[in-house]
Amino acid sequence: MAKELYIDLSRCQGHARCWAIAPETFGIDDEGYAYVIEGREGSYDEENVRKAIRNCPERSILIRET
Ligand code: F3S
Repeated sequence: MAKELYIDLSRCQGHARCWAIAPETFGIDDEGYAYVIEGREGSYDEENVRKAIRNCPERSILIRET
């Protein structure tokens, strides 16, 4: 099974800590919400992403098995 990193946009409030911690993986769109940079959904720096997950106050950074 593969892992897929994604943002739950029903929870994201635009705190941008994900982007501050792991700008190689997360971006912020024009409305201020996070997205996973294309191509990074299954390929990312594990340590940075774990840190971003811990630091998102809304718990909106998630990983699912695909
Ligand atoms: Fe959103 Fe959390 Fe990042 S609220 S902008 S996913 S730190």
